[in-house]
Amino acid sequence: MTEKRENWSARSGFIIAAIGSAVGLGNIWRFPYVAYENGGGAFLIPYLLALLTAGLPLLFLDYAVGHRSTGAPPKAFKQLWKPAETLGWWQVCVCLVIGLYYAGVLTWAGSYVYFSMGQMWGQDPEGFFFKTFLQTSASKDFELGFVSHLFWPLIAVWALVLAILYGGVKKGIELANKIFMPLLIILFTILVIQAVRLPGAAEGLNAFFTPNWDAMMNYKVWLAAYGHIFFSLSVGFGIMVTYASYLKPKTNLTGSGLIVGFANSSFELLAGIGVFAALGFMAQAAGKPVAEVVSGGIGLAFIAFPKLISSLGSGADFFGILFFTSLFVAGVTSMVSILEVPIAALQDKLKWSRFKAVSWVGGGTGVISIFLFSSTSAIKLVDIIDHFINNLGIVSGALVSIIMVSWFKRRLMAEMEMHINHISTIKLGKTWEFTLTVVTPVVLISTLVLAFKTLITTGYGGGDYSSSMVLYFGWGTIIFCALGAAVMSRIQDR
Ligand code: ALA
Repeated sequence: MTEKRENWSARSGFIIAAIGSAVGLGNIWRFPYVAYENGGGAFLIPYLLALLTAGLPLLFLDYAVGHRSTGAPPKAFKQLWKPAETLGWWQVCVCLVIGLYYAGVLTWAGSYVYFSMGQMWGQDPEGFFFKTFLQTSASKDFELGFVSHLFWPLIAVWALVLAILYGGVKKGIELANKIFMPLLIILFTILVIQAVRLPGAAEGLNAFFTPNWDAMMNYKVWLAAYGHIFFSLSVGFGIMVTYASYLKPKTNLTGSGLIVGFANSSFELLAGIGVFAALGFMAQAAGKPVAEVVSGGIGLAFIAFPKLISSLGSGADFFGILFFTSLFVAGVTSMVSILEVPIAALQDKLKWSRFKAVSWVGGGTGVISIFLFSSTSAIKLVDIIDHFINNLGIVSGALVSIIMVSWFKRRLMAEMEMHINHISTIKLGKTWEFTLTVVTPVVLISTLVLAFKTLITTGYGGGDYSSSMVLYFGWGTIIFCALGAAVMSRIQDR
């Protein structure tokens, strides 16, 4: 017998889970380093514009699609237009790919909670992170050297996430979010207050909040902003479609969306403030400008914070544990939402029980993830996969869903707008329609074309990776999503 589809216990349960999904590694680990790499202050304005012109409009669309269909993306999009089931499976595959490396970075966060005790990274956090901890191979090619101290925490992370998912929507996801989210808010607020009180913090905050108009002329800064916003808000790759599908029929959708969007960006800005305050402190200590204080890149949180923590004297252990626990907690609730998409999709399509769907998704993705991210190539894989899946995978899936609805299914779009307006306090109107029909597609098409062109002409990684590595783990993820979508949408529903 098919299991009954679950619901959130109340709208508040959904809002907490949606915030839990949105606020994740993207806010605390990814946003600060993307901002740092893109000129600090230069990034903030493109980021806010990306939020208004693409993130929020798509958030409402995702809600409407999921709520209307009560299904994960393949079922939800199929109901709009039969061939669009393929788009749904594309988004499911994007989630599977993200789940692979998300667990890797979560493992680093969890391990650093432990390293914070007595500041085990010593005098050289950068060397500790890359060499001692990750044991990063010097080769430009993929190497499968086994790192046992990455392997066991990875297993623990997967076990924790799957345990929550086995619990189901109410007793697993909702409950975990109700425990973890208040904890995160408390931990993070203490952390940011600590950071801005540091000597030199003001210099870091100046670097973060002063717009750099020249850098804003660089299209790569804009690409980075649009590539980040969907990941950060959990829109465009099926999560919000799936979470909205568990809502009861009469729910205020726009009000909930604005709360989630606001909470997510507040967290992102808070994380930016925390990290840049820390960089300001380090810059003052080193007598260097903020932009030169660390090498940046995806290790920023794991280098800047340990340096900062070590300099805190007696409060160091406490501050370190606080930061990395926040990172871990935020990441777990997002990881759960990422995997819920394929789980719900398989339940819809094959009428599998939750137990079976969680076991297959967890078993399949977990094994590959543990295999890849306990290797000496872990950080390179995170870098390559994250870049391709965000800038090409998520953006293209988001774009196709927007174009399909706003250009070709105008009647359905009007219906969804009416549906939302009927049950919500804040009404959507011409601004939403115009943004989704004109502004977002134009911006996303330009973004995609430029991202493709840059990757094809200059490759990725500035010579740090071999072309075969970029081919397998960068382009390979995109090919995987295309094949997965094509195959799954051809299988008969049960
Ligand atoms: N939205 C999630 C994050 O920011 C995926 O990490």
